[in-house]
Amino acid sequence: MDITTTQEWAAITAHATGFDGLDLRRLFADDPGRADAMTLSVGDLVVDMSKHRVTAPILADLVALAECAGLPDRIEAMLRGDKINGTEDRAVLHTALRAAKDRVVEIDGPDGVKHNVVTDVHVVLSRMAAFTDRVRDGDWTGHTGLPITNIVNIGIGGSDLGPMMAYETLAAFRHPRLRCTFVSNVDGSDIVAALADLDPATTLVVISSKTFTTQETLTNAHSARTWLVNALGPDAVAKHFVAVSTNTNAVSAFGIDTANMFGFWDWVGGRFSVDSAIGLSLMLSIGAGAFDEFLGGFRTVDEHFAAAPLDRNVPALLGLIEVWYRTFNKLPTRAVLPYSRYLHRFPAYLQQLDMESNGKRVRADGEPVTYETGPIVWGEPGTNGQHSFHQLLHQGTTIVPTDFIVMGTPDHVDDNFPDLGDHHDLLAANCFAQSEALAFGKTAAEVAETETDPELISHRTFPGNRPSTTIMAPALTPAVLGQLIALYEHQVLTQGVVWGLNSFDQWGVELGKVLAAAIVPELADTVPPALTHDTSTNALISRYRAMRGR
Ligand code: F6P
Repeated sequence: MDITTTQEWAAITAHATGFDGLDLRRLFADDPGRADAMTLSVGDLVVDMSKHRVTAPILADLVALAECAGLPDRIEAMLRGDKINGTEDRAVLHTALRAAKDRVVEIDGPDGVKHNVVTDVHVVLSRMAAFTDRVRDGDWTGHTGLPITNIVNIGIGGSDLGPMMAYETLAAFRHPRLRCTFVSNVDGSDIVAALADLDPATTLVVISSKTFTTQETLTNAHSARTWLVNALGPDAVAKHFVAVSTNTNAVSAFGIDTANMFGFWDWVGGRFSVDSAIGLSLMLSIGAGAFDEFLGGFRTVDEHFAAAPLDRNVPALLGLIEVWYRTFNKLPTRAVLPYSRYLHRFPAYLQQLDMESNGKRVRADGEPVTYETGPIVWGEPGTNGQHSFHQLLHQGTTIVPTDFIVMGTPDHVDDNFPDLGDHHDLLAANCFAQSEALAFGKTAAEVAETETDPELISHRTFPGNRPSTTIMAPALTPAVLGQLIALYEHQVLTQGVVWGLNSFDQWGVELGKVLAAAIVPELADTVPPALTHDTSTNALISRYRAMRGR
């Protein structure tokens, strides 16, 4: 369906002609109940959407657009296990990864017989929990009989960003003996930095790869294996390497006993996999109980997304507001600014989730879109960003819708610092001040009340009217992190449905992989290769060969 031909699309287009006139100062002045009316809760998350340049009629028409695009049916189809990832002929069932044990989600098995995937999920979760308990208790020992002290997760994309971000976020819940390091980049500096200070005898390497064919991951895995074997001999691999993958044959071919493999399924997309076995390093760190709370957080938001009417459905509304900005008002980026150091990798995680899902120029039916789709997502933790890029947010020529995330209580727990005074009040005050300044600015007249130099007035004026969401929760717990991730997962789905995209494939990563595979031998050959690329690429390869003395 070409959604641009619908009357629902036309209605939003008409609203967009008045975008410049949507003034947050006036919207708030006209409606003292606006903040209350536009703040919704889901689980522990309190989501204030009032500082957005939308009105009740715009939101109602956005909801109508979502209905016209078939969002309610699409949610049901996803939850039911329909193959909504058409280009890969796969179901999209990350919601089954956190389903309660007694839920039934049946899809066709390889034999064509219906099969409850929730049963499979809980079998793997139990195996992960048993392994986790052994490592944490010191019962699982390395080749020389020593307990594990360091975990090295080797993976990339969804097999790295999810567990790494969550490990960073849940720092306060870590096992005191176990330190996790995440290696993703094929740049040898990454694996060297990770292994340099580690003792092979107390290190557990988790190779995380859905396909177990990813060049970066396998290159790093082989280097780690060599490091271990050089120190402890080949027999040590069994006690120091485990795998998380869907590819049993490749895991076995690598030399990892499949008894030490934790599986998942083709219906889990890489960027939606942190709550699958890909979360093993996280579970090892925080424990099976906390991981269960993490899954419970996702489930809370899943249930809300499935049941809440669209006009009260938080992820759906956030997705629709993004469509309003990106498609109808051409705002190219969205900033995600956690006021939490522990969430410092959350924007990077969301970059993959959002941009790999919706960074697309053809619809699911293969037809080109005629409108803007996925935004560029970026961000850094506050308050650091205030002293770098916030200048542009406040006074630049581009309006950047912004998500602020802040907790009601401090994240850090450290007995050496029982009383950190007013740190958290300062953090929260800055967060609230930023959204206030962005929304309401400071007019020239207000500046003139105190500024005596007329030449400075325009410089010191803040245009305001810059939109933001503020997401608050009482504390950064495993459950809250699960809720946050699920909130964004479903926001991404909502956007993709309105845009008519398949949000679950990622063909855009393929060309570079193929070209790199062709270039690798051209860099390494001892005989100068006959280069048939464009003249720029040929010259880059030749220059590199010269620099390497080849
Ligand atoms: O390159 C893109 C991608 O396929 C991601 O979608 C995925 O998360 C990542 O690579 C890693 O893939 P794998 O887990 O199969 O190694």
